[in-house]
Amino acid sequence: MTIQFGPDYVRAIAPYQGGKPIAEVAREFGLDEAKIIKLASNENPLGMPDSAKQAMLAAMGDIGRYPDSNGFDLKQTIINKYKVPADWITLGNGSNDILELAAHAFVQPGQSVVYAQYSFAVYALATQAIGARAIVVAAKDYGHDLPAMAKAITADTRLVFIANPNNPTGTFIPAAEIEAFLAKVPQDVVVVLDEAYNEYLAPELQYDSIAWVQQYPNLLVSRTLSKAYGLAGLRVGFGIAQPVITDLLNRIRQPFNVNSMAQAAAVAALNDSAFLQKSAQLNAEGYQQLTQAFDAMDLEYVKSYGNFVLVRVGSDDAAGARVNLELLKRGVIVRPVGNYGLPQWLRISIGLPQENAAFIKALKAVLS
Ligand SMILES: Cc1ncc(COP(=O)(O)O)c(C=O)c1O
Repeated sequence: MTIQFGPDYVRAIAPYQGGKPIAEVAREFGLDEAKIIKLASNENPLGMPDSAKQAMLAAMGDIGRYPDSNGFDLKQTIINKYKVPADWITLGNGSNDILELAAHAFVQPGQSVVYAQYSFAVYALATQAIGARAIVVAAKDYGHDLPAMAKAITADTRLVFIANPNNPTGTFIPAAEIEAFLAKVPQDVVVVLDEAYNEYLAPELQYDSIAWVQQYPNLLVSRTLSKAYGLAGLRVGFGIAQPVITDLLNRIRQPFNVNSMAQAAAVAALNDSAFLQKSAQLNAEGYQQLTQAFDAMDLEYVKSYGNFVLVRVGSDDAAGARVNLELLKRGVIVRPVGNYGLPQWLRISIGLPQENAAFIKALKAVLS
């Protein structure tokens, strides 16, 4: 008899599928690493800001010591930028950490978590890992249907995840809809508003979620340094909520969950508004480049507010995997999204102009 370890709900978890690393694709397909283009993980094609690199190098001298467990300097930077008190902040090993901490802190096995169909894969993982029950609400036009999500909340619901903009579809929920949702949600249900792609929003779409945190003690806003700030490999994110939430998150997080080089780099990146502006500008231009090509190729895509675009590459359910494999053979890594229930689609992260052009060329060759 084979011994099985762990609860059923842990054994039932399908592992997270990340973007394929460049070195792995080079090995598998016999390609030159230097020629491979990776548009698969919604990373910043500019890499890290130089200001963050300098700060990291300066912090290296102290690497023999543990990091500041309270992240004083990083919290000061967040306090200055977002005008929130220190006890509203939870630092995370990426914002992924904040999402998982929320599931652990607020939900017991058997209780339910509400999130949308086609929303970020970690919501399902965090729910399953604690033996909670997922209530997955059907998407509307590939995005969140907030009125339906409000209705789906049951007596045992303890947590709701909302991504705005959403990954992998790129959809955006206008501020008024979120406000109406927050007003409807029972006060004992924690709402995580995941704003990983917020910095890519055009100024006229930006909204003041910190004001909502002031109004709603059950709201937790999460942010990341992995996207527009270019620090994905360092793993830094943070949550902003009132102390009734933050206090619990801070009790269960690992004491040193954000390493010292990451803290130093994050301070520099958060203060580097020129880099942020450059990233958003490059992204807007890349979005035009990709979607104009999709229009010319008559390919359907979902209007995106993030740093990626979801595009339909065929009308049969093998299309995504097939086109993905052909792109890999040509040294272009994108993200198949069959695991999200979108087998006809691929998610393309927006790259540098020459990377976008190489992808478009490869896609044309594959589809012709
Ligand atoms: C919607 C959303 N939230 C959170 C994350 C987590 O990012 P990180 O843990 O790097 O902050 C991602 C990453 O892709 C994401 O797409």
